[in-house]
Amino acid sequence: MTGRWRPETLAVHLGLEPDAATGALVPPLHLATTFERGADGEYPRGYVYSRSDNPTRAAFEHAMAQLEGGREAAAFASGSAAAAAVLRSVPAGGHLVVPDDMYHGLRTLLERVLVPAGLRLTAVDMSDLAAVRGAVRAETRLVWVETPSNPQLKVTDIAGVVSVAREAEAAYGAPVWVAVDGTWTPPPWQPAFDLGADLVVHATTKYLSGHSDVLGGVVVAAPAARPEPDDPWPRVRDIQRLEGGVAGPFDAWLALRGLRTLAVRLAVQAENAATLAAFLVAHPAVREVRYPGLPAHPNHEVAARQMRAFGAMLSFRLAGGEAAARAVAGRVRLFTRATSLGGVESLIEHRASIEPPGGPTPTDLLRVSVGIEHVDDLMDDLSEALAPEVRT
Ligand SMILES: Cc1ncc(COP(=O)(O)O)c(C=O)c1O
Repeated sequence: MTGRWRPETLAVHLGLEPDAATGALVPPLHLATTFERGADGEYPRGYVYSRSDNPTRAAFEHAMAQLEGGREAAAFASGSAAAAAVLRSVPAGGHLVVPDDMYHGLRTLLERVLVPAGLRLTAVDMSDLAAVRGAVRAETRLVWVETPSNPQLKVTDIAGVVSVAREAEAAYGAPVWVAVDGTWTPPPWQPAFDLGADLVVHATTKYLSGHSDVLGGVVVAAPAARPEPDDPWPRVRDIQRLEGGVAGPFDAWLALRGLRTLAVRLAVQAENAATLAAFLVAHPAVREVRYPGLPAHPNHEVAARQMRAFGAMLSFRLAGGEAAARAVAGRVRLFTRATSLGGVESLIEHRASIEPPGGPTPTDLLRVSVGIEHVDDLMDDLSEALAPEVRT
């Protein structure tokens, strides 16, 4: 497949070349861990050992690189493993700038594992570019962007952060990589490489596989390599292949299959989310709705500029506080009370109670992952769950 096809078309066809041996339309699932050498000791088919490379994983990686518009991709056993490979590509003593609202698992990984191992960290409100500029210093090697952020839907200006990073590179003479966690914005929602990012990371656990039955992650490298040693990609690839936290063949195969329906799933999910956001804004039991598609969102204009759709995640806060939030989650019948996101089924979650105590998430906040059900059914369910919270 070439770059002239649109992402919606690419997603259907990538990795679907008929199998050379059988003509099978669907790519085979290669479970082999090892591959035959030739009589001369060479590896005529290119594969040696599945930790380093596996044909099924390679097909998924190749598809993701093309879909995201990067040059290569590396698939991992989880989104967190993919993110960790990027975060750990920063040498000890290096400084990272991260968002003050981000996936709590990665924040905890940074605090409990990576800072004790020698990384230094500053968390800032990345919706404020001046705060990012103020946090960057001579030792800064990586700015980690998550936009919209989990779970408060803060929006970061990716191109703005890239220009801050480039200014710092010019000032201090050392690379400052910008990595974007695109888990909430699968292709084609937010083409981060067009905005100058060095790496894009996805938890394939979410939208890319789309059915809540795969755990996986992927890191995609920017289309143009930087001169070594300024390029982060070789270190990410080394961490993947040498440590072996790789996507298993079946997970890679399922994720590749998930791509086939990505565009249609995303279109319905984003439309449903916009409808639900508008419904919630008008609801008297709701204090605030966080969704970048709402004109009242503080960074709506940035979102409108850099996103092709506003996504299918939203959060809302209850006028009645934490008790009301927990009660609403307890009353839904169609939404499922569960963590995670990006599947075809709608989920709702009282977020503060799954995150470690003392985090930034308001206790009256419910996070919603919007699925592909009929939107009227989703609205009816929320409406019934919210009704007892309306105080007259
Ligand atoms: C934004 C974001 N990044 C990374 C992850 C981690 O993905 P995984 O659970 O596959 O490790 C998540 C999980 O919810 C997430 O929301």
